[in-house]
Amino acid sequence: MPLKIDVLTLFPRMLDSVLAESILGKGIAAGHLGVSVHDLRAWTTDKHRTADDRPFGGGAGMVMKPEPAIAAIEAVQTPGCRRIYLTPDGTPLSPALAEELSRQQHLVLLSGHYEGIDQRIRDTVIDQEISIGDYVLTNGTLAAAVLIDALARFIPGVLGEEKSLTHESFTSKLLDFPQYTRPAEYRGMSVPEVLLSGNHAEIEKWRHARQVEKTRLVRPDLLK
Ligand SMILES: C[S@@+](CC[C@H](N)C(=O)[O-])C[C@H]1O[C@@H](n2cnc3c(N)ncnc32)[C@H](O)[C@@H]1O
Repeated sequence: MPLKIDVLTLFPRMLDSVLAESILGKGIAAGHLGVSVHDLRAWTTDKHRTADDRPFGGGAGMVMKPEPAIAAIEAVQTPGCRRIYLTPDGTPLSPALAEELSRQQHLVLLSGHYEGIDQRIRDTVIDQEISIGDYVLTNGTLAAAVLIDALARFIPGVLGEEKSLTHESFTSKLLDFPQYTRPAEYRGMSVPEVLLSGNHAEIEKWRHARQVEKTRLVRPDLLK
């Protein structure tokens, strides 16, 4: 059974092109995973379709109300599914986490907005909280898109060439090496000689050295 993902958001149209284009779009069209996007306002019950309210205790902004989000999750959840809230104070997304999620059968992704969501949603219908990085987005829809894209790469068949996964940043705790394609000479800039040599051992050695160099410069924490 392909992985099924339900996304709950106040901005469903933000995902239209993300899910239709490129490798992710092809993976969905080929049936390697299925993604359904739901408008949280479908679960509001008043005539204004109210999804948020002022925070108890005061403070700026608005907080997403518990009723629509909890009703939405209860409507789409299945036994054993993983219910995830995208939030900057969640567990940081990593390749290992993306890979682990790619092996699940059903994910429910909740996107927040405004100042976040009522804590009772988190306490009752959320199994895991995930952050896509130490910065704050205006809402969680793009975070859900990032999570789906990152995990889809681990689903067999989504990347045409399975081996392209093995030479990526982070898979060996190193960042990726520089890539070049034709033409070999462009505006006076030449492709490094070794890449044109056909000597695969030397190419591997050169690439590994560039990976270490780049990682030391940009992400020394990965080398510890
Ligand atoms: C403005 S943020 C709320 C931030 C919250 N007040 C805080 O400081 O943790 C609105 C929504 O965007 C999403 N979001 C923002 N940054 C995110 C991140 N780095 N990772 C995942 N989701 C994020 C969450 O769903 C959140 O509910």
